[in-house]
Amino acid sequence: MQRRSFLRIAGGGTIAAAMVPLAGCSSALPEEAVAAWRGPGEEPDLRRWVLAHAILAPHSHNLQSWLVDLSVPGQITLSIDRTRLLPETDPYSRQMMMSQGTFLELLDQAARQRGHRADITLFPQGTFGPQEVDDRPTALIRLEPDAGVRPEPLFAQVFRRRTNRQAYEARPPAPQAIQAILDATAGQPFRVGVTTTQQSESMTRQREIAKEAWRIELTTPRTVLESYKVLRIGPREIAEHRDGISINEPMLRAIHALGLFDRNVAPGPDDMATTGQIDEFNRHIDSTPAFYWMVSQDNDRVTQIDAGRAWVRAQLAATAQGLSMQPISQALQEYPEVQGSYQAIHRLLAEGQTGHTVQMWARLGHAPETGPAPRRGLDAHLVRT
Ligand SMILES: Cc1cc2nc3c(=O)[nH]c(=O)nc-3n(C[C@H](O)[C@H](O)[C@H](O)COP(=O)(O)O)c2cc1C
Repeated sequence: MQRRSFLRIAGGGTIAAAMVPLAGCSSALPEEAVAAWRGPGEEPDLRRWVLAHAILAPHSHNLQSWLVDLSVPGQITLSIDRTRLLPETDPYSRQMMMSQGTFLELLDQAARQRGHRADITLFPQGTFGPQEVDDRPTALIRLEPDAGVRPEPLFAQVFRRRTNRQAYEARPPAPQAIQAILDATAGQPFRVGVTTTQQSESMTRQREIAKEAWRIELTTPRTVLESYKVLRIGPREIAEHRDGISINEPMLRAIHALGLFDRNVAPGPDDMATTGQIDEFNRHIDSTPAFYWMVSQDNDRVTQIDAGRAWVRAQLAATAQGLSMQPISQALQEYPEVQGSYQAIHRLLAEGQTGHTVQMWARLGHAPETGPAPRRGLDAHLVRT
Protein backbone atom coordinates (compact mmCIF):
# COMPACT_ATOMS: atom_id res chain seq x y z
CA MET A 1 0.00 0.00 0.00
CA GLN A 2 1.26 3.42 -0.83
CA ARG A 3 0.46 6.59 0.96
CA ARG A 4 1.65 10.13 0.36
CA SER A 5 3.10 11.53 3.53
CA PHE A 6 4.67 14.76 4.58
CA LEU A 7 6.83 14.80 7.64
CA ARG A 8 8.32 17.55 9.66
CA ILE A 9 12.09 17.40 9.78
CA ALA A 10 14.41 18.49 12.52
CA GLY A 11 15.08 22.21 12.37
CA GLY A 12 11.48 23.13 11.62
CA GLY A 13 11.22 22.43 7.90
CA THR A 14 8.91 19.95 6.32
CA ILE A 15 9.55 17.41 3.69
CA ALA A 16 7.11 16.16 1.13
CA ALA A 17 7.79 12.49 0.84
CA ALA A 18 5.69 11.12 -1.94
CA MET A 19 4.34 7.59 -1.89
CA VAL A 20 5.18 6.37 1.56
CA PRO A 21 4.11 2.82 2.25
CA LEU A 22 2.35 2.31 5.60
CA ALA A 23 1.61 -0.88 7.50
CA GLY A 24 0.33 -3.41 5.05
CA CYS A 25 2.90 -3.10 2.26
CA SER A 26 4.04 -6.67 2.37
CA SER A 27 6.47 -6.58 -0.54
CA ALA A 28 8.43 -3.86 1.15
CA LEU A 29 8.37 -5.27 4.65
CA PRO A 30 11.06 -7.50 6.10
CA GLU A 31 10.16 -11.17 6.06
CA GLU A 32 10.33 -11.64 9.84
CA ALA A 33 7.79 -8.83 10.34
CA VAL A 34 5.10 -10.71 8.41
CA ALA A 35 6.15 -14.29 9.21
CA ALA A 36 3.07 -14.78 11.44
CA TRP A 37 0.91 -14.66 8.30
CA ARG A 38 2.40 -18.01 7.24
CA GLY A 39 0.30 -19.53 10.05
CA PRO A 40 1.11 -22.16 12.67
CA GLY A 41 1.62 -25.04 10.24
CA GLU A 42 1.65 -28.40 12.04
CA GLU A 43 1.75 -26.85 15.52
CA PRO A 44 0.75 -29.77 17.80
CA ASP A 45 -0.42 -27.66 20.77
CA LEU A 46 -4.06 -26.70 20.19
CA ARG A 47 -3.88 -23.60 22.35
CA ARG A 48 -0.87 -22.31 20.41
CA TRP A 49 -2.53 -23.22 17.12
CA VAL A 50 -5.66 -21.18 17.80
CA LEU A 51 -3.64 -18.30 19.25
CA ALA A 52 -1.49 -18.18 16.12
CA HIS A 53 -4.71 -17.25 14.28
CA ALA A 54 -5.97 -14.85 16.93
CA ILE A 55 -2.84 -12.67 16.65
CA LEU A 56 -3.79 -11.91 13.04
CA ALA A 57 -6.77 -9.89 14.31
CA PRO A 58 -7.04 -6.19 13.56
CA HIS A 59 -5.97 -3.89 16.39
CA SER A 60 -6.06 -0.12 16.58
CA HIS A 61 -2.69 1.32 15.51
CA ASN A 62 -1.57 -2.30 15.14
CA LEU A 63 -0.43 -2.25 18.76
CA GLN A 64 -1.32 -5.90 19.44
CA SER A 65 -1.99 -5.35 23.14
CA TRP A 66 -2.75 -9.02 23.78
CA LEU A 67 -1.14 -10.61 26.84
CA VAL A 68 -1.64 -14.36 26.99
CA ASP A 69 -1.07 -16.57 30.03
CA LEU A 70 -0.86 -20.32 29.35
CA SER A 71 0.38 -21.34 32.80
CA VAL A 72 -2.81 -23.19 33.76
CA PRO A 73 -3.13 -26.34 31.61
CA GLY A 74 -6.16 -26.30 29.33
CA GLN A 75 -6.75 -22.62 29.91
CA ILE A 76 -5.93 -19.38 28.10
CA THR A 77 -6.06 -16.18 30.10
CA LEU A 78 -6.16 -12.98 28.08
CA SER A 79 -5.40 -9.55 29.48
CA ILE A 80 -4.50 -6.18 28.10
CA ASP A 81 -0.93 -4.93 27.86
CA ARG A 82 -1.23 -1.51 29.41
CA THR A 83 2.08 -0.39 27.90
CA ARG A 84 0.22 -0.48 24.55
CA LEU A 85 -2.66 1.91 25.12
CA LEU A 86 -3.47 5.08 23.19
CA PRO A 87 -4.39 7.48 25.99
CA GLU A 88 -4.67 10.58 23.79
CA THR A 89 -6.96 9.31 21.03
CA ASP A 90 -8.58 6.44 22.94
CA PRO A 91 -8.76 7.90 26.45
CA TYR A 92 -11.29 5.37 27.78
CA SER A 93 -9.68 2.42 25.93
CA ARG A 94 -12.87 1.68 24.00
CA GLN A 95 -10.93 0.77 20.87
CA MET A 96 -8.54 -1.30 22.98
CA MET A 97 -11.49 -3.35 24.23
CA MET A 98 -12.73 -3.77 20.67
CA SER A 99 -9.26 -4.99 19.79
CA GLN A 100 -9.54 -7.65 22.51
CA GLY A 101 -12.81 -8.66 20.88
CA THR A 102 -11.32 -9.07 17.41
CA PHE A 103 -8.73 -11.42 18.94
CA LEU A 104 -11.39 -13.49 20.73
CA GLU A 105 -13.46 -13.83 17.57
CA LEU A 106 -10.56 -15.24 15.55
CA LEU A 107 -9.62 -17.50 18.44
CA ASP A 108 -13.19 -18.81 18.54
CA GLN A 109 -13.24 -19.39 14.77
CA ALA A 110 -9.91 -21.22 14.89
CA ALA A 111 -11.15 -23.47 17.72
CA ARG A 112 -14.24 -24.39 15.67
CA GLN A 113 -11.98 -25.28 12.80
CA ARG A 114 -10.41 -27.92 15.03
CA GLY A 115 -13.73 -29.27 16.35
CA HIS A 116 -13.54 -27.41 19.64
CA ARG A 117 -15.83 -25.01 21.40
CA ALA A 118 -14.13 -21.99 22.93
CA ASP A 119 -15.83 -21.37 26.27
CA ILE A 120 -15.09 -17.69 26.81
CA THR A 121 -15.77 -16.04 30.16
CA LEU A 122 -15.37 -12.30 29.89
CA PHE A 123 -13.93 -10.44 32.87
CA PRO A 124 -13.62 -13.47 35.18
CA GLN A 125 -12.39 -11.22 37.99
CA GLY A 126 -14.84 -8.39 37.37
CA THR A 127 -15.25 -5.82 34.66
CA PHE A 128 -13.40 -2.53 34.21
CA GLY A 129 -15.01 0.80 34.92
CA PRO A 130 -16.06 3.05 32.03
CA GLN A 131 -12.87 5.11 31.93
CA GLU A 132 -9.95 2.89 32.89
CA VAL A 133 -8.58 -0.55 32.24
CA ASP A 134 -6.42 -2.54 34.62
CA ASP A 135 -4.42 -5.75 34.79
CA ARG A 136 -7.32 -8.09 35.55
CA PRO A 137 -8.03 -10.54 32.74
CA THR A 138 -10.39 -9.56 29.98
CA ALA A 139 -11.19 -13.20 29.20
CA LEU A 140 -10.65 -16.73 30.36
CA ILE A 141 -10.89 -19.31 27.63
CA ARG A 142 -11.22 -23.09 27.74
CA LEU A 143 -11.17 -25.18 24.59
CA GLU A 144 -13.58 -28.11 24.79
CA PRO A 145 -13.90 -30.83 22.15
CA ASP A 146 -17.47 -30.66 20.85
CA ALA A 147 -18.85 -32.76 18.02
CA GLY A 148 -21.65 -30.21 17.66
CA VAL A 149 -19.55 -27.19 16.67
CA ARG A 150 -19.74 -26.04 13.07
CA PRO A 151 -16.72 -24.59 11.26
CA GLU A 152 -17.13 -20.88 10.60
CA PRO A 153 -17.12 -20.14 6.84
CA LEU A 154 -15.54 -16.71 7.47
CA PHE A 155 -12.45 -18.46 8.84
CA ALA A 156 -11.30 -18.98 5.24
CA GLN A 157 -10.67 -15.22 5.05
CA VAL A 158 -8.48 -14.88 8.16
CA PHE A 159 -5.20 -14.89 6.21
CA ARG A 160 -6.59 -12.69 3.43
CA ARG A 161 -8.14 -9.93 5.57
CA ARG A 162 -6.39 -6.55 5.37
CA THR A 163 -7.06 -3.02 6.46
CA ASN A 164 -6.86 -1.27 3.10
CA ARG A 165 -6.00 2.46 3.24
CA GLN A 166 -5.64 3.03 -0.48
CA ALA A 167 -7.99 5.05 -2.71
CA TYR A 168 -11.15 3.06 -3.45
CA GLU A 169 -12.84 2.78 -6.84
CA ALA A 170 -15.94 4.91 -7.34
CA ARG A 171 -18.17 1.94 -8.27
CA PRO A 172 -20.41 1.01 -5.36
CA PRO A 173 -20.39 -2.42 -3.74
CA ALA A 174 -23.09 -4.73 -5.12
CA PRO A 175 -26.26 -4.97 -3.01
CA GLN A 176 -25.73 -8.70 -2.40
CA ALA A 177 -22.19 -8.03 -1.20
CA ILE A 178 -23.48 -5.40 1.21
CA GLN A 179 -26.10 -7.84 2.42
CA ALA A 180 -23.45 -10.51 3.06
CA ILE A 181 -21.52 -8.03 5.22
CA LEU A 182 -24.62 -7.12 7.21
CA ASP A 183 -25.56 -10.80 7.55
CA ALA A 184 -22.18 -11.55 9.14
CA THR A 185 -23.42 -9.95 12.37
CA ALA A 186 -27.09 -10.94 12.12
CA GLY A 187 -28.67 -11.63 15.48
CA GLN A 188 -26.09 -9.60 17.36
CA PRO A 189 -27.18 -6.63 19.45
CA PHE A 190 -25.86 -4.02 17.03
CA ARG A 191 -27.55 -1.84 14.49
CA VAL A 192 -25.36 -2.06 11.40
CA GLY A 193 -25.72 -0.38 8.07
CA VAL A 194 -24.02 0.68 4.87
CA THR A 195 -24.52 4.12 3.41
CA THR A 196 -23.86 4.41 -0.33
CA THR A 197 -23.84 7.26 -2.81
CA GLN A 198 -27.55 6.54 -3.37
CA GLN A 199 -28.19 8.16 0.02
CA SER A 200 -26.53 11.33 -1.14
CA GLU A 201 -27.51 13.55 1.77
CA SER A 202 -26.16 11.18 4.44
CA MET A 203 -23.10 10.46 2.30
CA THR A 204 -22.28 14.16 2.01
CA ARG A 205 -22.68 14.64 5.74
CA GLN A 206 -20.55 11.58 6.58
CA ARG A 207 -17.81 12.82 4.31
CA GLU A 208 -17.85 16.23 5.99
CA ILE A 209 -17.66 14.70 9.47
CA ALA A 210 -14.85 12.29 8.55
CA LYS A 211 -12.76 15.08 7.07
CA GLU A 212 -13.27 17.44 9.98
CA ALA A 213 -12.37 14.79 12.56
CA TRP A 214 -9.19 13.87 10.67
CA ARG A 215 -8.24 17.56 10.43
CA ILE A 216 -8.68 17.90 14.20
CA GLU A 217 -6.54 14.84 14.94
CA LEU A 218 -3.78 16.08 12.65
CA THR A 219 -3.76 19.60 14.08
CA THR A 220 -3.86 18.57 17.73
CA PRO A 221 -0.18 18.14 18.63
CA ARG A 222 -0.59 15.48 21.30
CA THR A 223 -2.78 13.25 19.10
CA VAL A 224 -0.38 13.51 16.15
CA LEU A 225 2.58 12.77 18.39
CA GLU A 226 0.84 9.69 19.74
CA SER A 227 0.90 8.25 16.22
CA TYR A 228 4.47 9.41 15.63
CA LYS A 229 5.51 7.38 18.68
CA VAL A 230 4.47 4.17 16.96
CA LEU A 231 5.96 4.93 13.55
CA ARG A 232 8.42 2.22 12.56
CA ILE A 233 10.78 3.61 9.96
CA GLY A 234 12.86 1.32 7.77
CA PRO A 235 13.44 -2.45 7.82
CA ARG A 236 15.46 -2.43 11.02
CA GLU A 237 12.75 -0.76 13.13
CA ILE A 238 9.95 -2.66 11.41
CA ALA A 239 11.66 -6.00 12.04
CA GLU A 240 12.56 -5.03 15.60
CA HIS A 241 9.05 -3.92 16.66
CA ARG A 242 6.72 -5.73 14.22
CA ASP A 243 3.83 -3.50 15.31
CA GLY A 244 2.63 0.10 14.86
CA ILE A 245 2.72 2.02 11.60
CA SER A 246 5.42 0.88 9.18
CA ILE A 247 7.20 3.32 6.88
CA ASN A 248 9.66 1.74 4.53
CA GLU A 249 10.01 4.21 1.67
CA PRO A 250 13.65 4.81 0.64
CA MET A 251 13.62 8.61 0.75
CA LEU A 252 12.13 8.76 4.21
CA ARG A 253 14.51 6.11 5.39
CA ALA A 254 17.38 8.22 4.11
CA ILE A 255 16.02 11.32 5.83
CA HIS A 256 15.62 9.35 9.00
CA ALA A 257 19.10 7.86 8.72
CA LEU A 258 20.51 11.38 8.45
CA GLY A 259 18.70 12.32 11.66
CA LEU A 260 16.53 14.87 9.84
CA PHE A 261 13.10 13.62 10.85
CA ASP A 262 12.17 14.61 14.38
CA ARG A 263 9.37 12.42 15.70
CA ASN A 264 9.09 14.56 18.82
CA VAL A 265 7.83 17.65 17.01
CA ALA A 266 4.27 17.98 15.75
CA PRO A 267 3.91 19.84 12.43
CA GLY A 268 1.95 23.11 12.44
CA PRO A 269 -1.53 23.32 10.91
CA ASP A 270 -0.25 25.01 7.74
CA ASP A 271 2.84 22.86 7.29
CA MET A 272 2.78 20.60 4.28
CA ALA A 273 3.18 17.73 6.74
CA THR A 274 -0.37 18.49 7.82
CA THR A 275 -2.03 19.91 4.71
CA GLY A 276 -0.63 17.16 2.49
CA GLN A 277 -2.13 14.42 4.66
CA ILE A 278 -5.43 16.27 4.93
CA ASP A 279 -5.62 16.68 1.13
CA GLU A 280 -4.91 13.02 0.57
CA PHE A 281 -7.42 11.85 3.18
CA ASN A 282 -10.07 14.16 1.72
CA ARG A 283 -9.48 12.70 -1.73
CA HIS A 284 -9.87 9.18 -0.35
CA ILE A 285 -13.05 10.11 1.49
CA ASP A 286 -14.51 11.82 -1.59
CA SER A 287 -13.88 8.77 -3.76
CA THR A 288 -15.14 6.25 -1.16
CA PRO A 289 -18.41 4.83 -2.53
CA ALA A 290 -19.79 3.48 0.77
CA PHE A 291 -19.46 3.70 4.53
CA TYR A 292 -20.16 0.86 6.96
CA TRP A 293 -21.28 1.64 10.50
CA MET A 294 -22.13 -0.21 13.70
CA VAL A 295 -24.13 1.23 16.58
CA SER A 296 -24.64 -0.30 20.04
CA GLN A 297 -27.36 0.57 22.53
CA ASP A 298 -24.93 0.96 25.38
CA ASN A 299 -21.23 1.22 25.77
CA ASP A 300 -20.13 -1.08 28.57
CA ARG A 301 -16.97 -3.15 28.38
CA VAL A 302 -18.69 -6.36 27.29
CA THR A 303 -20.46 -4.46 24.51
CA GLN A 304 -17.15 -3.01 23.35
CA ILE A 305 -15.57 -6.49 23.20
CA ASP A 306 -18.58 -7.84 21.34
CA ALA A 307 -18.37 -4.89 18.94
CA GLY A 308 -14.79 -5.89 18.15
CA ARG A 309 -15.93 -9.44 17.47
CA ALA A 310 -18.66 -8.13 15.19
CA TRP A 311 -16.27 -5.77 13.42
CA VAL A 312 -13.80 -8.46 12.41
CA ARG A 313 -16.70 -10.62 11.20
CA ALA A 314 -17.87 -7.77 8.98
CA GLN A 315 -14.35 -7.25 7.64
CA LEU A 316 -13.93 -10.97 6.93
CA ALA A 317 -17.28 -10.97 5.13
CA ALA A 318 -16.18 -7.99 3.03
CA THR A 319 -12.96 -9.84 2.20
CA ALA A 320 -14.99 -12.83 1.01
CA GLN A 321 -16.92 -10.45 -1.26
CA GLY A 322 -13.72 -9.02 -2.76
CA LEU A 323 -14.26 -5.73 -0.93
CA SER A 324 -11.92 -3.64 1.18
CA MET A 325 -12.53 -1.81 4.43
CA GLN A 326 -10.69 0.79 6.49
CA PRO A 327 -11.97 2.01 9.86
CA ILE A 328 -12.19 5.78 10.20
CA SER A 329 -12.18 6.11 13.97
CA GLN A 330 -11.32 9.78 14.32
CA ALA A 331 -14.88 11.08 14.85
CA LEU A 332 -15.67 8.20 17.24
CA GLN A 333 -12.95 9.20 19.67
CA GLU A 334 -13.62 10.64 23.07
CA TYR A 335 -10.93 13.32 23.52
CA PRO A 336 -12.25 16.87 24.05
CA GLU A 337 -11.15 18.60 20.84
CA VAL A 338 -13.05 16.17 18.60
CA GLN A 339 -16.34 16.29 20.52
CA GLY A 340 -18.11 18.36 17.82
CA SER A 341 -17.43 15.57 15.29
CA TYR A 342 -18.34 12.91 17.87
CA GLN A 343 -21.71 14.54 18.45
CA ALA A 344 -22.29 15.03 14.73
CA ILE A 345 -21.69 11.38 13.81
CA HIS A 346 -23.80 10.23 16.77
CA ARG A 347 -26.67 12.51 15.73
CA LEU A 348 -26.49 11.06 12.24
CA LEU A 349 -25.90 7.34 12.84
CA ALA A 350 -27.05 6.79 16.43
CA GLU A 351 -29.94 9.20 15.92
CA GLY A 352 -28.76 11.06 19.00
CA GLN A 353 -30.19 8.43 21.38
CA THR A 354 -28.67 8.61 24.83
CA GLY A 355 -26.05 5.95 25.44
CA HIS A 356 -26.18 4.68 21.88
CA THR A 357 -22.62 4.54 20.63
CA VAL A 358 -21.14 4.35 17.16
CA GLN A 359 -18.59 1.61 17.79
CA MET A 360 -17.24 1.38 14.24
CA TRP A 361 -17.34 3.49 11.11
CA ALA A 362 -15.41 2.42 8.04
CA ARG A 363 -14.77 3.05 4.37
CA LEU A 364 -16.03 0.27 2.15
CA GLY A 365 -15.32 -0.35 -1.51
CA HIS A 366 -13.19 -1.97 -4.18
CA ALA A 367 -9.45 -1.35 -3.96
CA PRO A 368 -6.20 -2.83 -5.26
CA GLU A 369 -4.78 -5.58 -3.08
CA THR A 370 -2.54 -4.66 -0.21
CA GLY A 371 -0.12 -6.77 1.81
CA PRO A 372 -0.29 -7.88 5.44
CA ALA A 373 0.69 -5.67 8.36
CA PRO A 374 3.45 -6.77 10.76
CA ARG A 375 2.75 -9.10 13.66
CA ARG A 376 4.98 -9.70 16.67
CA GLY A 377 4.47 -13.46 16.67
CA LEU A 378 2.83 -15.59 19.34
CA ASP A 379 5.80 -15.91 21.69
CA ALA A 380 5.93 -12.13 22.13
CA HIS A 381 2.44 -12.25 23.67
CA LEU A 382 3.09 -14.98 26.22
CA VAL A 383 3.35 -13.97 29.86
CA ARG A 384 6.33 -15.66 31.47
CA THR A 385 5.38 -17.08 34.83
C1 LIG B 1 -10.97 -0.61 17.01
C2 LIG B 1 -10.13 -0.36 15.77
C3 LIG B 1 -10.01 0.93 15.28
C4 LIG B 1 -9.25 1.18 14.13
N1 LIG B 1 -9.18 2.46 13.62
C5 LIG B 1 -8.48 2.69 12.48
C6 LIG B 1 -8.45 3.98 11.88
O1 LIG B 1 -9.04 4.94 12.39
N2 LIG B 1 -7.78 4.14 10.72
C7 LIG B 1 -7.12 3.10 10.11
O2 LIG B 1 -6.53 3.30 9.07
N3 LIG B 1 -7.13 1.86 10.65
C8 LIG B 1 -7.79 1.64 11.81
N4 LIG B 1 -7.83 0.38 12.34
C9 LIG B 1 -7.14 -0.73 11.65
C10 LIG B 1 -5.78 -1.04 12.29
O3 LIG B 1 -4.91 0.03 12.08
C11 LIG B 1 -5.26 -2.34 11.68
O4 LIG B 1 -6.08 -3.38 12.13
C12 LIG B 1 -3.82 -2.64 12.02
O5 LIG B 1 -2.96 -1.68 11.46
C13 LIG B 1 -3.40 -4.01 11.54
O6 LIG B 1 -3.58 -4.11 10.15
P1 LIG B 1 -4.51 -5.24 9.52
O7 LIG B 1 -5.91 -4.96 9.93
O8 LIG B 1 -4.32 -5.09 8.02
O9 LIG B 1 -4.06 -6.58 10.01
C14 LIG B 1 -8.59 0.10 13.48
C15 LIG B 1 -8.72 -1.20 13.99
C16 LIG B 1 -9.50 -1.44 15.12
C17 LIG B 1 -9.65 -2.84 15.63
